[in-house]
Amino acid sequence: MRIILTGGAGYIGSHTAAVLVERGHEVIILDNFVNAERDVPARLKSLTGREITIIEADIRSTEAVTAALQAHRVDAVIHFAALKAVGESEADPLLYYDINIIGTIRLLQSMQAAGIGRIVFSSSATVYGQPDSSPILENAPTRVENIYGRTKLVMEDLIRDLARVGKLKAAANLRYFNPVGAHPSALIGETPRGVPNNLMPYVTQVATGERPYLNVFGKDYPTRDGTGERDYIHVMDLAVAHAMALEHICGNDVSVTVNLGTGHGTTVLELVKAFETVTGKTIPVSIAPRRAGDVASYYADPALAQRLFGWKATLNLEDMCRDSWRWQAKRAGINDV
Ligand code: NAD
Ligand code: UFG
Repeated sequence: MRIILTGGAGYIGSHTAAVLVERGHEVIILDNFVNAERDVPARLKSLTGREITIIEADIRSTEAVTAALQAHRVDAVIHFAALKAVGESEADPLLYYDINIIGTIRLLQSMQAAGIGRIVFSSSATVYGQPDSSPILENAPTRVENIYGRTKLVMEDLIRDLARVGKLKAAANLRYFNPVGAHPSALIGETPRGVPNNLMPYVTQVATGERPYLNVFGKDYPTRDGTGERDYIHVMDLAVAHAMALEHICGNDVSVTVNLGTGHGTTVLELVKAFETVTGKTIPVSIAPRRAGDVASYYADPALAQRLFGWKATLNLEDMCRDSWRWQAKRAGINDV
């Protein structure tokens, strides 16, 4: 298939691009590079051996996006482009409504104008808010706990509505749990702006010496060791899931909403220990107060993705730590990996 990836130069999009090319699909990236490095296309080329067409555009530019969809006669869209920082969304709600919600409406309008009716969408486990229990099934209640989460839920609803009334032929809302890791080549990975919000990039920056220690946000949660528990998923497993979901919905013209996680919870201290074991690095920690808005524990029930399109995570916590470290160490010019 020929597929446009909005936000395809970003973290998850670039890994998905690599996997799609490997599976024989043709990939076109549409990105405005607001949160992507300019040399990602070149790195993808050296990884895949293929030239990937890049369209520099904003998803809200209906004219440019429609023209791109028409010119390349694409079969489907994978929609990654969005802003994703919870704190920033609370500080600037209109920015998030604009880029995430209006941006998605504009994209859907462009798709309709170009006659493209198949989409895979990057949703998030954040739509579950504070879950009643884990593992979380897709039919668990959704709860909005912040503006970023609100935008994800609205975008999911827009896509589900269009599919229900037949304006989309096929759609997949993919609810990612906690993506970490990098391509094993260390040619692509995650590049957070400034101080990382997320655990794994912070840990890798402590390991390079860029930060002195990790603040562990809360040690009084009702979990095995008192620290927050999450379902970390390797970005390569996530990338493969996109390809399989896409092939499934396009092959059958169906619409689905599925969790993408491993089904296993890992606490902050368990992740730190696994990282230390895999890399031989010591991660000093300091126990800090709970972070506002954090949930104690959640992990996916990922069985639906396996039932529908045969996907199951194959990489474990050690793989995630090793590949995250390889990527960050290379960027920091450390050659011991
Ligand atoms: P990312 O920021 O690395 O990638 C997003 C890409 O979209 C970037 O390349 C950015 O330049 C581009 N972009 C942003 N606004 C745009 C616009 N208006 N027009 C065109 N391009 C634009 O983020 P990511 O981690 O790869 O996340 C991809 C998607 O997955 C996002 O929708 C995010 O909300 C969702 N998601 C991410 C996580 C996570 O932890 N990384 C978890 C759940 C869901
Ligand atoms: N944590 C620390 N120290 C840090 C960073 C994180 O102890 O420096 C802890 C958090 O308190 C939490 C766990 O590590 O217990 C994971 O935190 P992350 O920030 O890595 O991930 P979250 O689960 O909080 O958030 C992620 C995405 C959100 C998304 C949410 C649900 O960052 O955008 O998953 O999908 F909304």
